[in-house]
Amino acid sequence: MTDQGHTEISVAMIVARARNGVIGRDGELPWHLADDLALFKAATLGHPIIMGRKTWQSLPRRPLPKRDNIVLTRDGTFSASGAHVFTSMAPALQAAKALARQAGKDRVFLIGGEAIYRVGLDYADQLWITEVDVQLEGDAHFPPFQPDAFEEVHAATYPANDRNDFAFTFRHLKRRPPVDEV
Ligand SMILES: NC(=O)c1ccc[n+]([C@@H]2O[C@H](COP(=O)([O-])OP(=O)(O)OC[C@H]3O[C@@H](n4cnc5c(N)ncnc54)[C@H](OP(=O)(O)O)[C@@H]3O)[C@@H](O)[C@H]2O)c1
Repeated sequence: MTDQGHTEISVAMIVARARNGVIGRDGELPWHLADDLALFKAATLGHPIIMGRKTWQSLPRRPLPKRDNIVLTRDGTFSASGAHVFTSMAPALQAAKALARQAGKDRVFLIGGEAIYRVGLDYADQLWITEVDVQLEGDAHFPPFQPDAFEEVHAATYPANDRNDFAFTFRHLKRRPPVDEV
C-alpha cells in the first residue's frame, strides 16, 4: 500500500527481442510466433496497455480487445478510435494505473515499440522478455539495460515448429530492490 492507501501498481514492459536486440522491421514484427502471441494475450488481457503511435498503427486489429489501450504521440491533434491518447509518459502511466485500480488489476503493461521501451525503462519494475533464438536485420531495437538490476523469476522455452518461426524463451524478470533497501 502507498501513503495514500492505494495498492501499488507495477509497470511491466513486455517485448520479444532477437539475440541482437532487434524487435521490428519496416513497422512490423520480423517473425511469426503464435505461441508468443498467446502468452502476450494471456499476460495482458484485462490490463491497461501503453504503446507508441507507430505500434498502434501497426496493429492489424485495433484497439486490442478486452484491454484499455493507451497511445502515446507528441501530436496533440491525434485521435485513436477506441483508445486513450496522451502526449507524454508520466500522465499516461498515471491514467493507466487508475484504470488498473478500477479493474482490480495490480499491473500495467508497456507494449512497445522501441521509443516507448526507451522512455519506459526507468519506470519499469518488471520485464516480460521473449528471447527469440535468432539474429536478424531490423530497424527497431530493445534498448540495453543493466541485467544485474533484475532477477529472473520464471522462464519457459518453446520450440520452433509450424506455429513458431524460431525457438524462444519467455522470461519474467523483476527489478531488484535498491541495495540500501535490502
Ligand atoms: N517485438 C516486440 O515485442 C515489439 C513490440 C512493439 C512494437 N514492435 C515493433 O517496434 C517498431 C515500432 O517502434 P518505434 O520505436 O518505431 O515506434 P513506437 O515506439 O511504436 O512509436 C513511436 C511514436 O510514439 C510517440 N512517442 C514516443 N515517445 C513519446 C513520448 N515520450 N511522448 C509522447 N509520444 C511519444 C511518437 O509518436 P508521434 O510521431 O505521433 O509523435 C513516436 O513517433 C515496429 O517495427 C513494431 O512492429 C515490436
